[in-house]
Amino acid sequence: MKEIKIAVIGLGYVGLPVAIAFANKYKVTGFDINNQRVIELNKYNDVTLEVSENSLKERLTNNLKITDEVRNIKESNIYIITVPTPIQKDKSPDLKPLLSASKMVGEVLSKGDIVIYESTVYPGCTEEECVPVLEKFSGLSFNTDFYCGYSPERINPGDKQHTIEKIIKVTSGSTPDIANKIDDLYSSIIKAGTHKAPTIKVAEAAKVIENAQRDINIAFVNELAKIFSIMDIDTTEVLNAASTKWNFLNFRPGLVGGHCIGVDPYYLADKSQKMGYTPKIILGGREVNDSMGLHVVNEITRLLVSVYGNLENKNILILGSTFKENCPDFRNTKVVDIISNLKLKNLNVDVFDPWVDKIDFEKEYNQKIFSEIPQKKYNAIILAVAHDTFKKIDLNDLMLDSNTVIYDIKSFYSKNLITKRL
Ligand SMILES: NC(=O)c1ccc[n+]([C@@H]2O[C@H](COP(=O)([O-])OP(=O)(O)OC[C@H]3O[C@@H](n4cnc5c(N)ncnc54)[C@H](O)[C@@H]3O)[C@@H](O)[C@H]2O)c1
Repeated sequence: MKEIKIAVIGLGYVGLPVAIAFANKYKVTGFDINNQRVIELNKYNDVTLEVSENSLKERLTNNLKITDEVRNIKESNIYIITVPTPIQKDKSPDLKPLLSASKMVGEVLSKGDIVIYESTVYPGCTEEECVPVLEKFSGLSFNTDFYCGYSPERINPGDKQHTIEKIIKVTSGSTPDIANKIDDLYSSIIKAGTHKAPTIKVAEAAKVIENAQRDINIAFVNELAKIFSIMDIDTTEVLNAASTKWNFLNFRPGLVGGHCIGVDPYYLADKSQKMGYTPKIILGGREVNDSMGLHVVNEITRLLVSVYGNLENKNILILGSTFKENCPDFRNTKVVDIISNLKLKNLNVDVFDPWVDKIDFEKEYNQKIFSEIPQKKYNAIILAVAHDTFKKIDLNDLMLDSNTVIYDIKSFYSKNLITKRL
């Protein structure tokens, strides 16, 4: 049997941990088009903070090579593609990274090779969109000369408990034999085990609905937060009470950002619409969740006016800017909806976040970030992201006076410390 040689294409939040996990057992070449990322990783520096310096050092001196040169992946026989799958301005799938990675792999593909996609897509994408590109640029025939698989990724950035080998992995392949091979490959590194789906389409659909389901459930509690705000009922208290029932689903309201939960439902919706059915709940959920930044700002301004009489010269501090807690990832963060809507009302906005790269954030969103807690006093403080370190902040130090509005989006602080929570 030929020695397994794996190439992982795209070394981001998903690809790097995948490459590291496989390098425990196999020869792995990690490839990324971002030269800066490749240089940093070769210096054992993972800016996503998913992989430690020691782990990188250990793998890079053994089984792992990290490169931005295509010739270095030519010898591989298994290609795992973990590139981004964002949406375009009109919210339709942007398959450019996926198709350009497929083209590149097509150009180096040899007979007998297997290409496994891990990026989140809609059902049908691998076989309808990626396979023709692989065929075109390799000159090889699908399921005769080369094969494909789809094994969606479930890792949760910033979560040091549910690491890659502890999460059951769904696998699939383009023929029954290849499905077994792919399943064996993942079983060899995933301690939690695998679930072999009957087809690639089933595996693709399973991933996209996992995230769509979360999105819809959060949309429901976000809608409740809007309703209960009008009724002057504390949503967290309602959810705490309801959660005592054995089958109540314990979701909490909040901003839904990032590149997964707020994006993937559009992949499913777009494909569904193209096939003649316009989803109602999925798109309705998206609309509710996308409206939460504005809702928060409406709440804050109402509270500010009620205590200060107007919105003139008011200073607001936002705690947190990332799309989720305890991680530096600010892609598609909805905190920017709060920032922009506050600015539209001519409020002065400061943002404190010790997790993010402030230069990158400012470049992306034109908003300065404080990496140290500002030595200023505020009319309103918004807890936007539940970074653990924010527990240490003494809110009194930041309050202008006893009227300062403290709004807690994440039910992070105890109720007696805040004015209102989402
Ligand atoms: N981050 C998550 O929590 C998560 C979880 C499950 C699934 N996913 C899915 O996994 C995929 C990757 O997500 P991510 O968070 O790792 O993205 P990412 O942006 O962190 O990383 C992607 C990497 O791919 C590189 N890249 C882009 N185009 C390339 C190309 N043509 N060739 C080689 N490299 C290329 C980028 O430079 C980047 O380093 C997406 O489909 C995402 O939806 C992400």
